[in-house]
Amino acid sequence: MILLVGGEKGGSGKSCLAQNIAVYFANEKHATVLIADCDPQRTTSDWIQARNNDPKLVTINCIQLYGKIRNDLLSLNEHYDYVIVDCGGQDNLALRASMSVADHVLIPMRPKRRDIKTAPHMEDMLSTCKMVNPKMIASFVITQCPSLPNQAGRIIEAKEVCASFGINVLDSITYARNIYDDSEEKGASVMETEPDGKAANEIRAIADEMLAIKQELSYEFG
Ligand SMILES: Nc1ncnc2c1ncn2[C@@H]1O[C@H](COP(=O)(O)OP(=O)(O)OP(=O)(O)O)[C@@H](O)[C@H]1O
Ligand SMILES: [Mg+2]
Repeated sequence: MILLVGGEKGGSGKSCLAQNIAVYFANEKHATVLIADCDPQRTTSDWIQARNNDPKLVTINCIQLYGKIRNDLLSLNEHYDYVIVDCGGQDNLALRASMSVADHVLIPMRPKRRDIKTAPHMEDMLSTCKMVNPKMIASFVITQCPSLPNQAGRIIEAKEVCASFGINVLDSITYARNIYDDSEEKGASVMETEPDGKAANEIRAIADEMLAIKQELSYEFG
């Protein structure tokens, strides 16, 4: 399965989600996982480097890929259970090439107006890519949500606006928690920092919900 974590808004949590989901699949689903870091900023490659310095952490394979990476992803997909693609914050060739082969595109979106304003452009790109990759499933996931009860309306509103573009919106979300930033710094995932913590369960819920959608659709369409 090729999972692309993409979107054009910087800082929405693409790398963070890609890394945490990779560890979840590797450690808890006992799957073989490769992360393709397509971001010239190399955020995930740096995370891998920090991770490799800690012998207690399970090794996650990572390669850097840029440009026309469609065939690279297809052949890597033959060798791994999950190929997780971390595309940086720009609408570039690697992002479009990944969309053309991805099984699932996960688009993190903060519940902020400037971020949500990018949804129409994402929808546009996705519908173009669907012409060559009709099996692709795309989902928005609302990230870094405020946890104050009086802010709950913002999360609901963000979900509604995203859904209005005809793209699936996951029920599961992430709240803004320091543990994401702190784990990243050590090359770890939130599940390794605090296995029973709230953030760990957010990641598990997002990944499981995504897999469930795929399964549901494959039952429907065979
Ligand atoms: N749920 C969260 N709670 C708190 N901080 C978060 C959360 N998700 C991500 N972050 C933090 O936000 C920052 C940006 O996240 P990240 O690097 O994953 O974004 P990105 O979308 O990959 O950015 P870019 O477009 O630059 O690649 C990081 O410091 C990360 O630790
Ligand atoms: Mg990133």
